[in-house]
Order: sequence, then structure tokens, then C-alpha cells
Amino acid sequence: MNNFTLTKTFANFLLRSSVDLNLGNVVNDILLSCIEISELLAKSPIEGLTGSTEKANSSGETQKQLDLLCNQILRDQLRQNQAVKYFASEEESSAITVHDQGVFAVAFDPLDGSTNIDINGSVGTIFSILPALSGKSAEESFLQAGTNQVCAGYVIYGPATQLVITFGRGTYIFTLDPEENIFFQTDENVRVPVDTNEFSINMANARNWSREFSNYVFHLLDGKGGPRQKTYNMRWTGAMVADIHRVISRGGIFLYPSDQRANMSSGKLRLIYEANPMALILENCGASAFNEAHSILSITPTQLHQRVPVIAGSTKEVFACLNYIQNEGVAGQTRL
Ligand code: AHG
Ligand code: MN
Ligand code: MN
Repeated sequence: MNNFTLTKTFANFLLRSSVDLNLGNVVNDILLSCIEISELLAKSPIEGLTGSTEKANSSGETQKQLDLLCNQILRDQLRQNQAVKYFASEEESSAITVHDQGVFAVAFDPLDGSTNIDINGSVGTIFSILPALSGKSAEESFLQAGTNQVCAGYVIYGPATQLVITFGRGTYIFTLDPEENIFFQTDENVRVPVDTNEFSINMANARNWSREFSNYVFHLLDGKGGPRQKTYNMRWTGAMVADIHRVISRGGIFLYPSDQRANMSSGKLRLIYEANPMALILENCGASAFNEAHSILSITPTQLHQRVPVIAGSTKEVFACLNYIQNEGVAGQTRL
């Protein structure tokens, strides 16, 4: 390894950016877990680790074997870190106390997009680090607005394993060298273009959307001859990590709205360990992340596993969507 390459390591980035030592150590432990997860995923079909268990998590979703194994890897690693006071996970029903003297509350989605495992598609790990509150319960430390996050990131396991991270001063991308087990910086101060012609949504839910939201999406489909006067492309991988990574890489809008089904009145995605970290990353790229009324980062959660609608990505497109939801969009033109 030459000197130039050495300066690009994640360890050097932490030093250069004067990241608090304890915080840097917590992130390093998360990354050690992610390296282990990356290796586990690569071998999982050989080891017979694909497929589901009989169990369900707090959101009522069936847990895959790998959901539980990845959760265990993060749990075991974070338990060793004295700076971690609490952790919370998609796969744990309640927040867990680790060290009474710790200073951080770490929330994570150990394996995002886990249904993609069975098709060898991209998946990821999402994490959010908050200051632990003193004199409060474990759960209360996680019920803070996303603006309080001191660090947010995700690791995407795709053709390359990459870390996308922010400490609230820009968003940075690192790529894992799997031979050295070191993350090297491959992009800095990432910016997401404010305009886009690409959207990302599960169209199979269209019949359940509100009239206003349907108008927005169907006007996108109308293309150049329609009210938006532009032809749009669509992509949906089924893993938030992969769909947001595309937005980070080339712009776009990612949509998981509320809909009229009984359990979807706040959409599907979870605020604390999915939407909040993605929102902080996006805002640090000049992009935006809203529920259907407010900035996601401004919401004070009331429950650990609460859901939130997500409208996130290229800022002008996010505001165009909000204009439909709040003001019915292009006046007088409804599609449905
Ligand atoms: P998880 O695998 O952690 O439960 O998350 C899955 C989420 C998210 O990654 C993705 O955007 C969304 O579910 C996909 O939902 P649909 O299956 O409705 O497309
Ligand atoms: Mn997820
Ligand atoms: Mn998950």
C-alpha cells in the first residue's frame, strides 16, 4: 500500500475530520460487523443460510435466517464497546441497555431489503447514532428527532461493498477492499442533482394510493406530452439501501407513501433506523427527505418501530410531489 492509498482509508478520514474518538470507535465496530456480514452474505447460498425462519419481528414481517444472523453480529460487536449505552434494531422488539456509562444510542436495520437475498440482489445495513439521554429509559433515547443524529450511514452489499456516511458535514463514500478489509474513500462531498427524470416506487400499490398522490405518479407516466412536460424513467429494486444509493449516485426520487390499507396509514418504512439515517445522508448531499407534510428529520418519534411515509431525493422533484399532495399539483388537471 503506498502513501497516497493510505491517506484514503476510513481511519484517516476520521482523523482528518476530527471525529470524536468514542464516536469513531463505535463506527469502526459497526464497520467490523459489516465486513463480517459482507463475508457471510457471499457464502450464504453455499452454507444454506438463505430462506426464512418461523419468526416475525415487531413490524409483523417474517424474519429471514440472515436477518437474525446479521442482527447477532452487530449485537455481539456493539456489546464490547464501552461508549454504547443502548442499541435498537429492526429485529429486536425493544431497546437494549449495553453499558450504563455509555454515551451513544445506536439504531440499526441489520439487513435491509432482505427479500433480495433469495435473488442475489443488493442488500444493506443502515445505522443511526444518537447521543444517549441520561435519566431516561433505553427506549426514550431513541425517541429523538433525526436532527439529533451525530452520525448516520449505510453499507451496501452489491458488486462492491460500499459505506455511505455523514457526521453532519457532507456525505462521503468508501469502498471495501475485501483483501485488505479496509474501507477506502472513493467519493467526497457527494451532491445529488436538484432535478431528475427518474423515480422509484412500488407501482403494485397504486390502487391503494390517495387521489392526490396517484395524480403525481400518473403525471410522471404521462411524460413529455403530460403536465410535467418531461419523460421519466422508473427503477425499483425492493431494497431501500439500493434505491437510495441510486439516488445518491445519479439523482432521482424515492417514494414509499402512506396508502389506504389498514396497516399502511404511515407507509411501510421505519422512522428511527431506516428513514432518519437516509434523511440525514440525503440532506448532507443537498437532497431532501419529507413525510407527506414535514421534513423527516424534524419528526419526534413516539414509538421505537414507528413507520413514516418517505418522499426523498432530488429537491425540486420532492417539492413537486409535495405540491401534488398538499395543493393537488397542477391546477385543474387530475388524471384519475
Ligand atoms: P427490510 O428488508 O429491512 O424489512 O426492508 C424492506 C423495505 C425496504 O428496504 C424497501 O424499500 C421496501 O421494504 C420494499 O417494499 P415492497 O416489498 O413493498 O416493495
Ligand atoms: Mn429495511
Ligand atoms: Mn431489515
